[in-house]
Amino acid sequence: MSGSYPSVQMTVIGAGYLGLTHAVCMAEFGHDVLALDVDADKVARAAGGEAPFFEPGLEPMLRKNVDAGRLKFTTSYAEAAGFGDVHFLCVGTPQALDGSADLSQIYAAVDALAPHLKGPCLVVGKSTVPVGTASALATRVRQSAPAGAGVEFAWNPEFLREGLAVQDSLLPSRIVFGVTSRRSVELLQDVYAQPLAEGSPGLVMDLETAELVKVSANAFLATRLSFINAMAEVCEAVGANVTDLVEALSCDKRIGAHFLTPGLGFGGGCLPKDVRSFRTATEDLGITSLASMLREVDAINMRCRARAVDLARESVGGSLAGCRVGVLGVAFKPGSDDVRDSASLDVCGRIADEGAAVSVHDPVAMENAASLRPDLRYTESALAAATGADVVLHLTEWEEYRSIDPEILGTVVARRNIVDCRCVLDEERWRSAGWSVRVLGKR
Ligand code: UDX
Repeated sequence: MSGSYPSVQMTVIGAGYLGLTHAVCMAEFGHDVLALDVDADKVARAAGGEAPFFEPGLEPMLRKNVDAGRLKFTTSYAEAAGFGDVHFLCVGTPQALDGSADLSQIYAAVDALAPHLKGPCLVVGKSTVPVGTASALATRVRQSAPAGAGVEFAWNPEFLREGLAVQDSLLPSRIVFGVTSRRSVELLQDVYAQPLAEGSPGLVMDLETAELVKVSANAFLATRLSFINAMAEVCEAVGANVTDLVEALSCDKRIGAHFLTPGLGFGGGCLPKDVRSFRTATEDLGITSLASMLREVDAINMRCRARAVDLARESVGGSLAGCRVGVLGVAFKPGSDDVRDSASLDVCGRIADEGAAVSVHDPVAMENAASLRPDLRYTESALAAATGADVVLHLTEWEEYRSIDPEILGTVVARRNIVDCRCVLDEERWRSAGWSVRVLGKR
């Protein structure tokens, strides 16, 4: 028990970004949590209090709950099945070659768990899946679980943002209960008693709608970003200023200011793959209008990366071959060491492929970046990355890059050229220090 809230015995299957964060926050609520992963090394490290990725606030909370005995780890499905009244499915649903979601991990998890489910329990999916998956999984679990119809099934999508994962999990913007029975709602209300009491809205709906809430939220956010990035291209073409445009748009409460910062577009482990997966799902459903729209959202997003390379090339006089390029930031966004589908790392790769020598700095993501692009040079500071550069590219908007002194950076570069691909640097400050500044979305 934590305070006056109920304590539930639960398992969390999959200890990646989603699963580990969920497991830790569930233990923080006072539940008894057993997290399972098939990666024995990851399990051993997590059981020792070590988070396998960077996420602000996660590791201390992991250690605290491991030490308190509320959070344990295993690789055994038999142990997990015997432990939990509620089993959360948090495995990855990566992108398959055709853009659809690869559901092999979630089917493998369910197939491994179900034969051990001997008594009544609730299996709850959290991974992002195409609509219809929950219902198919529910049938499959009940067919192979000894408990049969005693296994309830629910869908409870996750909306956490990397870099803010702990706060988003402790107090979610909304808690969606996709269910087929009243009993499932009651159990999930116990699981989420604390955030519900603290003000997170709890929304009860059917399985299909719950699945759609997640994919449509991501599709909507991606569409917003691609819209503003396409407007940035218009601004460039006509000599307008996209930052001023966004400021004025944001004053309209119906539009608002969030998720409207133009630049390199969206990357990361979720938005790009979820947009593609939803696109293939709408194609399969014959809803070609939405499929075409999502195809264009994706295309606009990818064009942002090409435009960044164009700006870099123009700023050094037309060819990147033989140039030295200093890069600030390769994480897909600040606050994260994740480089999955990072627009920044993609730009670095494209520039290196054109024959430039690329020196990179990032506060936390260099190790992950180096495993994907070992050909780039990784440096211990922004100053080192910029040393000898013909152009500096600002690719991930870490706070520390905004406070760089352009005078000091100017003393180490070969040429004072900077391209701000995130539209956040103080242009006037850089210009007055003698830099030629190019910004995506501004001529
Ligand atoms: C996203 C969703 O926000 C979250 O609800 C879902 O659960 C998972 O996917 P996340 O991938 O952590 O979360 O990143 P988010 O903060 O949404 O940013 C996604 C991408 O869009 C990043 O590459 C970011 O740099 C970019 N972005 C975001 C912009 O370019 N401009 C913005 O204004 C906002």
